[in-house]
Amino acid sequence: MKRTHNCGELRKNDENKNVTLSGWVHKYRNLGGLLFFDLRDRYGITQVIFDPAKVSQDIIELASKCRNEFVVSIDGVVKVKPDANRNLATGEIEIDANNIKIENESITPPFNFLKGRSDAKEELRLEYRYLDLRSEVMTRNLILRHKVTMATRNFLSEKGFLEIETPTFTKSTPEGARDYLVPARLFPGSFYALPQSPQIFKQLLMVSGMDKYFQIARCYRDEDARGDRQPEFTQIDIEASFVDENYIFSLTEGLMHQIFSESMGIEIPVPFERIPYSVSMEEYGVDKPDLRFGLKLKNITDITRNSEFGVFKNAECVKFIAVEGKEDLSRKQIGKYEDYAKHLGAKGLAFVKLVDGKFEAGIEKFLTDDDKRTIIELAEVNGNAMIFFGADRTSTVNKVLGGLRNRFGNELGLTDPKDFKFCWVTDFPMFEYNEEADRWDAMHHMFTMPKEEDIDKIENDPGNVLSKSYDLVLNGVELASGSVRIHDRDIQEKIFKRLDLTNEEIEDKFGFMLKAFKYGAPPHAGIAPGLDRLLQVMTGEETIREVIAFPKAKSLNCPLTKAPSEVSQDQLDELNISVKKK
Ligand code: AMO
Ligand code: AMP
Repeated sequence: MKRTHNCGELRKNDENKNVTLSGWVHKYRNLGGLLFFDLRDRYGITQVIFDPAKVSQDIIELASKCRNEFVVSIDGVVKVKPDANRNLATGEIEIDANNIKIENESITPPFNFLKGRSDAKEELRLEYRYLDLRSEVMTRNLILRHKVTMATRNFLSEKGFLEIETPTFTKSTPEGARDYLVPARLFPGSFYALPQSPQIFKQLLMVSGMDKYFQIARCYRDEDARGDRQPEFTQIDIEASFVDENYIFSLTEGLMHQIFSESMGIEIPVPFERIPYSVSMEEYGVDKPDLRFGLKLKNITDITRNSEFGVFKNAECVKFIAVEGKEDLSRKQIGKYEDYAKHLGAKGLAFVKLVDGKFEAGIEKFLTDDDKRTIIELAEVNGNAMIFFGADRTSTVNKVLGGLRNRFGNELGLTDPKDFKFCWVTDFPMFEYNEEADRWDAMHHMFTMPKEEDIDKIENDPGNVLSKSYDLVLNGVELASGSVRIHDRDIQEKIFKRLDLTNEEIEDKFGFMLKAFKYGAPPHAGIAPGLDRLLQVMTGEETIREVIAFPKAKSLNCPLTKAPSEVSQDQLDELNISVKKK
């Protein structure tokens, strides 16, 4: 038997065709001798009937042996159903079967995935991922992933970008995470590093004159797996020569537009709003603002300097967030938010209620009439509201109120997963101070171009150097980062020095790159959207694991293959490696 159609394509106008379908038995029922099968493949489900009045007893017996997930092929004739099943794309027809071949049997699966999504715990789903991927939702996610990848390839290729592969065994790249290392058999004691991103190679390709490069690139970072992180993940990696940030903005906007349009039929409005980093931190408390809702943070540090409330008076920064419709919170509920604020680093969470234009409860007694007028003006609420205050170092206030803002956005139902709100965050600081290590680190990476007017400040005032870097944010998720790169060796060296790299370290880590830059490096810029995160937001999934065929579990292991696993002594000997047992 040779398949003529898939299980998702037959319709009314195929009536009376002789067809052969192959697939998995999704469900079977025996209704008074009539056997009903739902036959499933990647494309859909088709109902098949074996009628004892029409086929031989042998065939009925064979068909009766089938159980869920048996693989079968059937011959039959397409019939229009008197009562269409509106839940199935093929619901108008059914197949009147006249023959069946059992291609393979199946033991009973360890969990149920018939209802669109598996009902098992994630660990078990990952152990049997090949079964989990049979579910409708996971199949749909992988199909969407393919469409997004194809839309990306088509779009960038049409714009003149070349898809070029870069090495997976390479030298450590400085993206800030821990490297995965691969022992080099022929160089005892030496290791390749798996790339955290193709950053250095894509810049070298610009020196090569490739002009426009992209790659659907696998990246490796030894960091904890979280909802939006995996130790190996995929970037849509992009770099172009003789362009500025505006080119990258409109290229990426066009790419996102095409991806959503081709793979989901959604027309995303472009261009995207641009928000400077400082404004994002001030108004949203985070560098990845969720623009699906307002609830902006309001700064009242100027008026609280003279406050009688000690908590406010001495704080570096005081801001509030006014949450409309939450004025009825009980003391206990407020306590829950206070606990959350403390979890984010706050010392407390002062509040006041605004009811019918009047302030009540909480810190009401500490507010002067002037304070109240200012707060009402800034709050921009139409009715009653609960107002929460943060008073602390600016970074703490932002973290706490930014976190609360996102929580209220969710709780108030303002975060519709089908509402896609993009924005650019621009003008990031070049450096951030690493208190633990007592040094300045690059906020994006060390190949990012500082703003020309700030180059003089690199040495003595690094905290005030802004860079030409940008993030693409979608619904509060950082989707992409990128920057205009340094193509000037002198500026690059200044940055390396500021990062406290010694000449030896610079030579050892980046000597090859600086050497390349002596041979005519063009001005260039780039970006790298995370493919997995993009798909996570597109599908509204809770974790990026749901959009990856074979992800690692939260604990970074693979329940399916049991990787990582111990290796034989012979293998270790060959690699000149001895392992300390814990
Ligand atoms: P960056 O390190 O910001 O930039 O990464 C770019 C994007 O990659 C995605 N991403 C991840 N996705 C899943 N799991 C992870 N562990 C993970 N880490 C990062 C995010 C992120 O926005 N070379 C630069 C880009 C450039 O400058 O062109 C880079 O890698 O979506
Ligand atoms: P206290 O004066 O410590 O009793 O605090 C009075 C109110 O202010 C309580 O609701 C505290 O939760 C709150 N509070 C204390 N410290 C802070 C802070 N740093 N930021 C915001 N609220 C605070």
